[in-house]
Amino acid sequence: MDSATIRKQCIQFFAGQGHTIVPSSSLVPSDPSVLLTTAGMQQFKPYYTGEADPEKDFGSKNTASIQKSFRTSDIDEVGDETHLTFFEMVGNFSFGGYFKEETIKLAHEFITKVMELPISYVTIFKGSDMVPKDEESRQIWNSLGVNDVREEDIQDVFWGPTGNSGPCGPTTEIYCKNAAGKDVEIWNCVFNQFFYPGSREELLAGTPGKELEPLTTPGVDTGMGLERLAMISQNAKNIFDTDLFHPLIQSLPAGVDPRKKRIIADHVRGIVFLLADGVRPSNKGAGYILRRLARRVMVYEKTEIIPAHVIQSMVHEVIHDYGEFYPELLKEADVIRTEIEAERGKFGKTLERGMKELEKIGQISVSDAFRLYETYGLPYEVIKEIGGEKTDDVTREGFDAEFLKHQEISRAGVEKKFGGHGLLLDTGELKAGSEEELKIVTRLHTATHLLNAALRKVLGDSVEQRGSDITAERTRFDFLFPRKLTSDEIAKVEELVNYAIQKDFLMTIQELPLDEAKKSGALFFYKGHYPERVKVYTVGNEFETFSKELCGGPHVARTSEIGKFKIVKEEASSAGVRRIRAIVL
Ligand code: ALA
Repeated sequence: MDSATIRKQCIQFFAGQGHTIVPSSSLVPSDPSVLLTTAGMQQFKPYYTGEADPEKDFGSKNTASIQKSFRTSDIDEVGDETHLTFFEMVGNFSFGGYFKEETIKLAHEFITKVMELPISYVTIFKGSDMVPKDEESRQIWNSLGVNDVREEDIQDVFWGPTGNSGPCGPTTEIYCKNAAGKDVEIWNCVFNQFFYPGSREELLAGTPGKELEPLTTPGVDTGMGLERLAMISQNAKNIFDTDLFHPLIQSLPAGVDPRKKRIIADHVRGIVFLLADGVRPSNKGAGYILRRLARRVMVYEKTEIIPAHVIQSMVHEVIHDYGEFYPELLKEADVIRTEIEAERGKFGKTLERGMKELEKIGQISVSDAFRLYETYGLPYEVIKEIGGEKTDDVTREGFDAEFLKHQEISRAGVEKKFGGHGLLLDTGELKAGSEEELKIVTRLHTATHLLNAALRKVLGDSVEQRGSDITAERTRFDFLFPRKLTSDEIAKVEELVNYAIQKDFLMTIQELPLDEAKKSGALFFYKGHYPERVKVYTVGNEFETFSKELCGGPHVARTSEIGKFKIVKEEASSAGVRRIRAIVL
């Protein structure tokens, strides 16, 4: 079955079985504790815990989706038969609608009847100190004639939670044989029976004081890799031999190393999808992941002598082949192309020198590797690959630790200046050189919170802060928005801010644990590094909350201190990001 038909069959099957089909959510999740969307269940987290009502939102307790997913954890595996960074996850979900029996029967029917594929074997949870063995699933499988049921432990068949906390539970997985005779995991069916108030790492480590709590209504979360399903259905030996990848691989020059061809094809898809969801290359967070993918491709262009137009046409192909299913690719097509070329321009300047330098050094230490990254922008993967044996001492853990250390050093630098060496205030966001300036930047700072809130009120919740910079002259605020603002919109935003000023709202400060603060609906900067306890700054009165943000201050006590607020300029900052400059009078 070709992949377009597989997609259709999945949707038809689950819709036919009473599931509401929900569109994929963005690769950039609303859950701030997760960098990128790694699974279909992420957008449904609140429905498992009872915080949201599926019948109200979807008209059903059962949903299904094909979710754009991205797993950085698999980046080192890409190039083998079955791993990818970006992939499409087909899943069905139930929030108190059905549980184990229905889930297993649905999966069995879909694989064996709709796809007409034999199941090789399945796995179930063997049990642990905290959770008993999943005998029930074994019996259901047996009743369907599947008798090769293998027991696995908590590492393999216990899912979740994602992020800082969430639903989790034992799973049962389905394996099928590919054309090379290898058993490949196709589908993971999770039975969310618990809520865990910590991360998966904490769960596996058995953190004291954090226990599994039973969910009042157990739920179901399943995930099936579309690429793997296509591999089995198309009788291919690996995911790159499917119609999803074949054309991309074919467009690369024949002489390119086959593993590198796969990596390029994977990364090009990843780059296109990340850009379409608003991620921009940077040295932090999701932007850093995107940058690493892009730069690795650019290094291969050079070492494998691939003309730039080849990658450009692969990008074009991804946009067009997937645009039918993910219209954001078509909408953002120009931005995607421009951003890739901009990154090429930036990296192109240092790439050659970096590679020469890398060749010059003998045995490469972690700090050499980090210097190559900092000075020439060479990502870890590239250093490892080009450096070969010379980089045996460089591990991902070591490199990441060095990365963190440098971030801490630069943060310490900010604090020092803050302590009064020359500058009176420099938080990175706010700069003031005298008491006088400090007063103005404080007014501008509160005005910036009001501006952020007003933009969301006028333009919608998709507005998201991308950066801000405040001096005694003005505030400069960058935010995600796809087009130029109309003069009417600008006027409305300005009016709203002045309304909040004229209301003389109080600024109140509340100190909370980070996750509680985020749950309270307070806005926060996605790139921000926040401590465990944070301050939430709220502007409003007993009738109205105008703005609520995580922040470190300083702020005015009452909004009337701001004076009059005026937007002086609205322009593009980078693709998909707008920039507003505003002053207070
Ligand atoms: N959330 C489960 C997974 O991603 C289905 O494997």
